[in-house]
Amino acid sequence: MSIYLGVNIDHIATLRQARGTKYPSLIEAARICENSGADSITLHLREDRRHIQDHDVEELKHSLITKMNLEMAATDEMLKIATNISPEDCCLVPEKRQELTTEGGLDVVSQLHRMKEVCAELSSNNIKTSLFIDADKVQIDAAIECGAPIIEIHTGHYANAKSSEELNSELLKIVEACEYAHSLGLQVNAGHGLTMHNTRAIAEIDSVVELNIGHSIIARSLFVGLASATSEMKQLLKEARNQ
Ligand code: PXP
Repeated sequence: MSIYLGVNIDHIATLRQARGTKYPSLIEAARICENSGADSITLHLREDRRHIQDHDVEELKHSLITKMNLEMAATDEMLKIATNISPEDCCLVPEKRQELTTEGGLDVVSQLHRMKEVCAELSSNNIKTSLFIDADKVQIDAAIECGAPIIEIHTGHYANAKSSEELNSELLKIVEACEYAHSLGLQVNAGHGLTMHNTRAIAEIDSVVELNIGHSIIARSLFVGLASATSEMKQLLKEARNQ
């Protein structure tokens, strides 16, 4: 099975927002990523608009040649934006204002009714919903109950592991969760905290369809350029699958 790379360009916008300038251009960044092997462009419109702005979502939707994966909280405001813009995919994430980045998976179980509503609304607008969840069977079952066609397994705990024992145990949880979700017919994506050093083991999981990677690619682009940072990651994914 093929594996796809979604490049998250939030931190191109972080750099722009730090000075309130018009550069660096997100459209140019997205095009470079697409020309260098990205299969989709991911962006997170946060409630506090700390990086991606509303106009970015609109402009990118017109200019992307691959597809857009819009990450957002399941709020009425975001739902309205998503149904207006019509990204191909929408990844629902939990959001806390004070966090540096998304810290954990969505608790689908405790918000089952709301999640069902949001998945149905997005689906009726031809948007595929992905639920960003921890590697947990209970959450996977809840995702199925919501009618979400895709889940994205949160790899942050694996990426932040402090010892090799912890790393192996987090990896095992991810492998088992991916296999379980795949066996139930879900498309399985994964992401968060993935780098050139820790991605291979995740990319080797056969049932994983797409990896969404941002911070490490953008950080590496400072030294090697965005085209090389993207194509190196794409190459790593292909090698992990013997493609
Ligand atoms: N997937 C999801 C759902 C995310 O929220 C993020 C961070 O915005 C990513 C992937 C990318 O994570 P990172 O920037 O650590 O690669």
